[in-house]
Amino acid sequence: MNLVEEINKLKKEKNAIILTHCYQNIEIDEVSDFVGDSLYLSKMASKTDADIIVFAGVYFMAQSAKLLSPNKKVLLPNMNSGCLMADMIDVDNVKLFKSQHPNIPLVCYINSTAEVKANCDICCTSSNAVEIVKNLNSKKVLFAPDTYLGKWVESKLDGVEVITFNGFCPTHLRIRPEDIEKARKNYPQALILAHPECHFEVSKSADFVGSTKEIMEFAKQSDKKQFVIATEKGVVDRLNRDSKLYNWNKEFILINENIICPNMKHNTLQDIYNTLETENNEITIDENTADKARESINKMLLAGSRN
Ligand code: 13P
Ligand code: SF4
Repeated sequence: MNLVEEINKLKKEKNAIILTHCYQNIEIDEVSDFVGDSLYLSKMASKTDADIIVFAGVYFMAQSAKLLSPNKKVLLPNMNSGCLMADMIDVDNVKLFKSQHPNIPLVCYINSTAEVKANCDICCTSSNAVEIVKNLNSKKVLFAPDTYLGKWVESKLDGVEVITFNGFCPTHLRIRPEDIEKARKNYPQALILAHPECHFEVSKSADFVGSTKEIMEFAKQSDKKQFVIATEKGVVDRLNRDSKLYNWNKEFILINENIICPNMKHNTLQDIYNTLETENNEITIDENTADKARESINKMLLAGSRN
């Protein structure tokens, strides 16, 4: 069976689209309608007129798509696709965090469950976190779950204290400040591009810090020829593929060979075919939670569209 052909056939028959995060196994791009970061994929989920959304990503991303398209069927190809960072915080932790710092707005990173989003003031992604926190016009802001993204945001804003929950991404924390030093020595001509989930010392010494999609766009438009990438391998695979395909003549090097998010790699073409055919693995969210969580995502999208 040619899985790509069969998936494309099913997509047509069922009026389905496939949204794919850029950490996914690269062969999934062959059947994808949109590939990008969390913000871009959320926007695509809110705009589509498809009946079914297959989300090739992790659970919180599929949940966000369901929040933004409540009347559509949202399917996650492999239910083992969780996010270790999102699992570090639950509603009880959120309540405790808020009670320890009363009357301070809470921004929650999109890498969190719908229940956590339902208990925060506004959501953000890695590409709009600075702007979202800035627009709150508050001297103090609570930020959960990613302590490193929170501290990165604080470093970009004058006079704002960002009080962070102590969550983190185990994959990005495998990138150590020594990796940056080594990369500078081994590739002196290269630019180092990092994701803000990295350790603050890593982000601070990179040449560019941005979301997965921002890193890819920066690399594409840059006139430099060599780049060391401090985020998950899927980004490097796509950049090297595009460099070959479109003759960019650029080289992309993964900062350290262990930067692979195991959860992001669960989804396969076979899983996508199975879930499209059976319509199993549907995402459901109880209505009360969904209404509140949707509000925090919609506030984020609205704040972004004002600029
Ligand atoms: P992006 O929004 O930058 O794609 O980040 C998602 C993510 O999970 C990074 O680890
Ligand atoms: Fe979660 Fe980290 Fe994987 Fe992103 S890379 S999905 S934050 S575990």
